[in-house]
Amino acid sequence: MKNGSFLTLGIESSCDETAIAVVADGRRILSNVISSQIDIHTAYGGVVPEIASRNHLQNINLVLDQALGEAGVRLEDIDLIGVTKGPGLIGCVVIGVACAKALSFARGIPLVGVNHMHGHVSANYLQYPDLEPPFLALIVSGGHTNIVEVKAYGQCEVLGATRDDAAGEAFDKVARVIGLGYPGGPKIDRAARRGDPDAIHFKRVLLEPGSYDFSFSGLKTQVLNRVNQARMQGKDLPVEDIAASFQQAVLDVIVEKVMAAVKERGEDRVVIAGGVAANSGLRDQLSRACEGAGVRLYLPDPVLCTDNGAMIASAAYYQYQTQGPDDLTLDARADLPL
Ligand code: KG4
Ligand code: ZN
Repeated sequence: MKNGSFLTLGIESSCDETAIAVVADGRRILSNVISSQIDIHTAYGGVVPEIASRNHLQNINLVLDQALGEAGVRLEDIDLIGVTKGPGLIGCVVIGVACAKALSFARGIPLVGVNHMHGHVSANYLQYPDLEPPFLALIVSGGHTNIVEVKAYGQCEVLGATRDDAAGEAFDKVARVIGLGYPGGPKIDRAARRGDPDAIHFKRVLLEPGSYDFSFSGLKTQVLNRVNQARMQGKDLPVEDIAASFQQAVLDVIVEKVMAAVKERGEDRVVIAGGVAANSGLRDQLSRACEGAGVRLYLPDPVLCTDNGAMIASAAYYQYQTQGPDDLTLDARADLPL
């Protein structure tokens, strides 16, 4: 507690970002330090789990010191420690969980293990101080694609999920196929802005009528086939056009399903979350669709969409209020469900 504020330390290490933040009263960011391993994994064309976990181990104490320093607080001022307990790369998640448990044990600070996906949704509480559940949320990340009804803090009803690849996974795989490399999402986003989204037609997979589920794995194959076909004909497809056409195929499906859920359930607020929510095309197109339907869209800043510690701190703050602390048997779980 400092100056009457309840301080939560948020620790995130589920993939390739070692991230720690200090958040006041679940809503106000005092520091949000993100140590990205992008440069390390670029050489391998994607995240190498073993290398990622080793780097978390090397970095986590430095990131902790920086997060406390930038917030101008000491460990003894911290009232609660929140940490991602899953889902994620298991060797990575355990580093954050071990760090959180050690701090909790050594300093007697209550501990809360947070579902990473609830963390992504909670990025919106940081950006929009007045936002409270219930609302509809689109969660689009490297590992998940979900449309959910957020009924209360940390409580979701899943309306739809991907049946194969997540949206971010599709961006990353297609980026590799067309030679853009890692990290795929931001590179496709940038290339797509210079390309023609109608240049190549990729099939939109909508599944059964009324379903909010997704399927993106076929898109990668479609892109691969078109690239190979063009090569065999001695033609070169501009990378920007492939990127724009692929991205549009993903966005058309996402926007259509979100707006169908809005209509069917009479929602008036939609929140987006997860790394792919940083995509400029998704932000534009969903904004336009929501405006047309008279629905308010909540868009966290891109830095809050991708993995960070502040979102974990916010989720932990509300979880602690409703469910209390976890004990030191808290464990990491790679496939933790929503
Ligand atoms: O949420 P996140 O940081 O980590 C996971 O929880 O997975 O999401 C990472 C994913 C990656 O697949 C990355 O390519 C994608 O988000 N991503 C983007 C953009 N920025 C990150 N996808 C599309 N456009 C972007 N601008
Ligand atoms: Zn994430």
